[in-house]
Amino acid sequence: MRTETGTVFRLQDYRPSDFLIPETRLIFRLDPRETLVTATLSLERRDPAADVTALKLAGDGLVLKSISIDGKALAADAYEATADCLIIKQLPSSSSFSLTIETEIDPEENKALMGLYRSSGNYCTQCEAEGFRRITYFYDRPDVLSIYSVRIEADRANCPVLLSNGNPGASGDLGDGRHFAEWHDPHPKPSYLFALVAGDLGVIRDHFTTASGKPVDLAIYVEHGKEERALYAMDALKRSMKWDEDVFGCEYDLDVFNIVAVSDFNMGAMENKGLNVFNDKYVLADEKTATDVDYALIEAIIGHEYFHNWTGNRITCRDWFQLCLKEGLTVFRDHEFSADQRSRAVKRIAEVRTLRTHQFPEDQGPLSHPVRPDVYKEINNFYTTTIYEKGSEVVRMIRTLLGEQAFRAGMDLYLKRHDGDAATIEDFVKSFEDAAKLDLSQFSLWYHQNGTPKVTLSTAYDQTAGTFTLHLKQSAIGGPALNTRKPLLIPLVFGLLGRDGSELAYTAPQGVDGSVIRFDAMEKSFVFEGLKEKPILSINRGFSAPIVLKDDFDVAHRLFLAAHDSDAFNRWEAINALLMDALKNAVGQEKTGAALDFPPQILSLMGKIAENDSLEPAFRALALTPPSEADLAREIGENIDPDAIYAARIALQASIGKANAAAFEKIYAANAINGPFAPDAEQSGKRSLRNVLLDYLSLADGGPGRAHQSAMQSGNMTDRIAALSVLAHRFPDADETRTELSRFEHDFRSDPLVLDKWMQIQATIPGEQTVARVRALMNHPAFSMLNPNRVRALIGAFSSANQTAFHSADGSGYTLFAEVVTKADERNPQLAARLAIALRSWRSLEPVRREKARETLAVMAAREGCSIDLSDILERTLA
Ligand code: PHE
Ligand code: ZN
Repeated sequence: MRTETGTVFRLQDYRPSDFLIPETRLIFRLDPRETLVTATLSLERRDPAADVTALKLAGDGLVLKSISIDGKALAADAYEATADCLIIKQLPSSSSFSLTIETEIDPEENKALMGLYRSSGNYCTQCEAEGFRRITYFYDRPDVLSIYSVRIEADRANCPVLLSNGNPGASGDLGDGRHFAEWHDPHPKPSYLFALVAGDLGVIRDHFTTASGKPVDLAIYVEHGKEERALYAMDALKRSMKWDEDVFGCEYDLDVFNIVAVSDFNMGAMENKGLNVFNDKYVLADEKTATDVDYALIEAIIGHEYFHNWTGNRITCRDWFQLCLKEGLTVFRDHEFSADQRSRAVKRIAEVRTLRTHQFPEDQGPLSHPVRPDVYKEINNFYTTTIYEKGSEVVRMIRTLLGEQAFRAGMDLYLKRHDGDAATIEDFVKSFEDAAKLDLSQFSLWYHQNGTPKVTLSTAYDQTAGTFTLHLKQSAIGGPALNTRKPLLIPLVFGLLGRDGSELAYTAPQGVDGSVIRFDAMEKSFVFEGLKEKPILSINRGFSAPIVLKDDFDVAHRLFLAAHDSDAFNRWEAINALLMDALKNAVGQEKTGAALDFPPQILSLMGKIAENDSLEPAFRALALTPPSEADLAREIGENIDPDAIYAARIALQASIGKANAAAFEKIYAANAINGPFAPDAEQSGKRSLRNVLLDYLSLADGGPGRAHQSAMQSGNMTDRIAALSVLAHRFPDADETRTELSRFEHDFRSDPLVLDKWMQIQATIPGEQTVARVRALMNHPAFSMLNPNRVRALIGAFSSANQTAFHSADGSGYTLFAEVVTKADERNPQLAARLAIALRSWRSLEPVRREKARETLAVMAAREGCSIDLSDILERTLA
């Protein structure tokens, strides 16, 4: 592990490498504790005229066994090798030469899960962002592209399966119980896309024929006995391949496409060329073990990694500052894929909820950074929701501004112009400018200026003149101070509605292009003419811009939009805003000790939505779900008391349940699913509606009977988990809850991935007693500090989704948290750093908790031996 501190990397310091590496040959002699890696690099001077006399390659924790150039061993004074870098001081003067390096590594001891490591006895690699340097010394940077040939030698009994990138080559026996396999990847790639997998795995196979008739063999490797659980992922893969051809004209480019599911993985999945490696959570699914949410995530992530083949692999990033070039764009593509496979409106609402819950607080707090940062200490800490989700929103805005056709033309140009390149955001934007003959320089600020933009609007209608004036003002929450901010170009999709809900005709002012207002100044008025009646404004339709909108709409206006807007997203948005206002008001009442009450019209609105059969069930389920505690905390913004927020939200839910019990009961029954389980949008919509209603009805009942019934009758994991959550979260001390928790534990005691759900439900039981429960669960045989999925299910859920327990007023939640983060940091700094972001909004807490949180952060930051990953997060959080 690297131990130097304080290195800051800056975009402005970028310069190309002195050498190119057109070819890389790797030989792996696999052994659990002593794996030998022989790397032969063809090195070529980038500029033969330049007087470059030394070569410096990156390493991380490496042991050098031998080194030679053009077949001749180097003299001891010709090079310097440390664990973290290799400097060759005497180089041949020729323009190209071949360097052979032998290193020894210990996969078994690698618990950081970067480089070559073991998971359940199998070998696998993770190289993004800088893991390849834990395998051999290399130019471990994304702009050095090389053609890889790989030979793997291993024990045949333990490792019948030997995989790497590209197409398979020779394979055979070596005697002594060992065998080998060779792989060749004809597409030049950066080292972060290298992958190797070896082990004893089960497999399912299928094939795909590309649009131009090229056959591709598909395989998904999983633990033995879990093959059937990979069938949905395979189906999603084939749909992804077809979709990328249909929508983006992107065809697959190798003879094989392999996916491997591993149980120890720091992230969701990894797009290694031709050999995607997945966290098994995002591959394995069947009716009895996976929820509808799991299925949807599998579809999205299978798509995401596959789509990287073009946006990430064929065109990669010049440097890590450009991370959003591949991630933002690929998230945008996977969002579109899911929208096409399921319901577009429902998908969009879910995306916006995620953005608000995770990206907004990041952008508004101490870890705020631009979509394209220009400085970092540890790149691992920049795989953030800003890079991914806000990055995707920026691409979406480009499409909104250009329109479907010009957007596709820009994408085509980007893919054609930069195929085989390590590109930049400027290259990307330029492709759209050239294709659409448009100047996007002001728009590009979205990549560089952090903070959540805020648009405040006011309106005026002049009956006699027939004019409607929309006044817009922009500022931001987080990011640079207002007086140094430059105005963003904000695309606001809108409509002006008549009293019957129809779109009114008008004469548009300058800056309005069809249904899009291009708001490009700090402040601006738009005057619409020819309006005989007072229009009802619907704005930021489809969440066309990722902003906070402060409108001047009253309750009547919102109720109107909730009922009539042709834009489904804005219907939901209006309902959500009504619920948010009711909740904020109730938090105020709670703080002053007043009785909580909620406007009757809000309560009856919920009944009407539930009953409205013209709305799809999935939409109704979303509309019936009040903003989360975290959303409410962000909206309030300061002096946060999580207990008051919890009290307000649960009181609202109970009131909604009681006010609509009879109606809810009917809808619940009417949406029962007859016939076999299908993980499709239609069935999952019905299940989610029923399960939201189950919660309301249980709150109205005031007892666990109904949820207990549902848990016992449920034939699938979605319903079972939903019922178990109601039991645990609403009636934690009931006998029924104890019974169902132990039945679940018993049913899945040998399946830790499924038991994670059980851990997560218990970790999110509201109230400070949960701290003790989580401590006890850490001693459960299924829990392991070394497996990221286990840690995230228990501790991640506790710290990021349990406001009342994590922020216990006595500080016990923070104490537990600090212990776990510290423990995780000893073996897996990335995991520790990701956990630590749970405290990023500490400054918004009320004073007592705020001080306890600050102290917790400070103590963690002061610990000797704190990793770079973790200290980077802690220091920025405290700054
Ligand atoms: N590049 C991966 C993705 O988003 C994420 C990842 C980053 C995985 C770093 C592992 C390590 O598809
Ligand atoms: Zn990605």
